[in-house]
Amino acid sequence: MPQTDAIRDERVRALADGSAMPTLGLGVWQVPNGDECENAVRWALELGYRHIDTAQAYGNEESVGRALRDSGVPREEVFLTTKFYPARDDPAAEAELSLRRLGVDQVDLYIIHWPQRGPTWAWPGMEEAQRRGYARSIGVSNFRVDELEQVIAVADSAPVVNQVQFSPFEYRRALLQACVERHVVLEAYSPLGTGRHLSHRTVTEIAQRVGRTPAQVLLRWCVQRGTVVIPKSTHRERIEENGQIFDFALSDADMASLDRLDRTGGTNKARERKWW
Ligand code: A2P
Repeated sequence: MPQTDAIRDERVRALADGSAMPTLGLGVWQVPNGDECENAVRWALELGYRHIDTAQAYGNEESVGRALRDSGVPREEVFLTTKFYPARDDPAAEAELSLRRLGVDQVDLYIIHWPQRGPTWAWPGMEEAQRRGYARSIGVSNFRVDELEQVIAVADSAPVVNQVQFSPFEYRRALLQACVERHVVLEAYSPLGTGRHLSHRTVTEIAQRVGRTPAQVLLRWCVQRGTVVIPKSTHRERIEENGQIFDFALSDADMASLDRLDRTGGTNKARERKWW
């Protein structure tokens, strides 16, 4: 797809390094390696998803790779992300192991899972992974604004993505703004609040009024806020439902009502507490 079209199409986000990534992906956090993961990924690909998000820490790269092969969808049509587990020391060596588990020659995106031991030490290794062709694009996850700035300051090849917890309830407005200004695409994980946000009254009321489901409303909010979004589900009908978010739009008034659900005070932080 020519890049100018990619930029105009809300189904695709242009990355600062010249690549592009599908706005919607399937996340497989907390899905065990094995049938459950393989089914979810295979269904997603059957239903038209072209973006899968895994991580070394999830322990399910083998299943993601197997489902990708079994799906029959050509490798080059699927955007595949994995994440460097930062308790390890060598991002390039770990990327090579990921490729073997996934059974692919390259991932489309390789990101530092969280800034353990500081934001910058792993970056030269991430760039090395890119130089060796293990990853087409490189980025970060769970980085707040100052951590992102530190990486950019030392980078030859700047991060093009920051994947963070993001939803109307975690509307990290200052972080989003900083990412936009630095040409970093914000990727929203846990967009449904791992399921908790689906039953909030504001969300269910909007959903009922516009004739959509609460999940579709929450995901559509992310699309209209300009992010990439990676809902997780292991149920085929939910994976399908979550994919139907490009054929309607939320009004400015509904977007504003959802914005007001933010509980972070529009923070520039990527997370409320450390887990490492
Ligand atoms: P399941 O995997 O059993 O389908 P998040 O993406 O914010 O992490 O949310 C994932 C959680 O939300 C999972 O528990 C998932 O359950 C559930 N979920 C995902 N999509 C839907 C949906 N369309 N309707 C209801 N629950 C959903």
